[in-house]
Amino acid sequence: MDILDQQRDYYRHRAPEYDQWWRREGRYTLDEQARQDWEQDIAEVARALDTFAPTGDVLELAAGTGWWTERLTRHATHITAVDANTETLDLNRARTGATGKVTYRQADIFAWNPPESAFDTVFFAYWLSHVPAERLAAFWAKVTHALRPAGRVFLIDSYHPDRVPDDRQLRRLSDGREFQIVKRYWQPTELEATPGWHLTAGVSTHRQIIHAAGAPER
Ligand SMILES: C[S@@+](CC[C@H](N)C(=O)[O-])C[C@H]1O[C@@H](n2cnc3c(N)ncnc32)[C@H](O)[C@@H]1O
Repeated sequence: MDILDQQRDYYRHRAPEYDQWWRREGRYTLDEQARQDWEQDIAEVARALDTFAPTGDVLELAAGTGWWTERLTRHATHITAVDANTETLDLNRARTGATGKVTYRQADIFAWNPPESAFDTVFFAYWLSHVPAERLAAFWAKVTHALRPAGRVFLIDSYHPDRVPDDRQLRRLSDGREFQIVKRYWQPTELEATPGWHLTAGVSTHRQIIHAAGAPER
């Protein structure tokens, strides 16, 4: 099966256990110090997002189960949450639906064309690392197309201190099923060199999360 189909299916089947990873529960349990470090890093990045203030109309790509969608609802007037899987979007709806601020849209980001100049912010968490190198230019062009003239982007992803040469990983669900996915760990300097963009990137204190904010070159 094509790696992007495997990647989509991996997250479809992982949806019920995805939040265990965020909460570092079950097979993702950490010792107390590591848990505190993780929580501190998340809080730090959440504060950076609050400072950025994703107000107005927000497009969230690969919205997943809604950890960040919930955070976006504190600022946004409206959020369009796009994800390939109804399984993740259903969990997202359960978490954020009561706000009345979110439209859930099932679509494959690589095939979907966002409306032109429709959003004040495009946000994506733990998504850029899953975009294969040969699709990066088209992906960033899509983000630019979706933004209003003063529009901005905010992204969050996993951080790894070294440039990992292999952009593919084998992932295993708790039931043992295996899937190949794309996983590229970005460095701040690499993100800041994204063609056509002015991005400023940073890494959390315990070096587990990278985040960047900026806008297309205009
Ligand atoms: C690592 S998760 C991130 C979810 C969420 N942004 C978060 O940070 O919790 C990646 C998400 O991408 C979605 N996904 C995978 N392939 C996709 C595709 N081709 N188009 C849209 N979404 C996709 C998965 O369903 C999953 O929810």
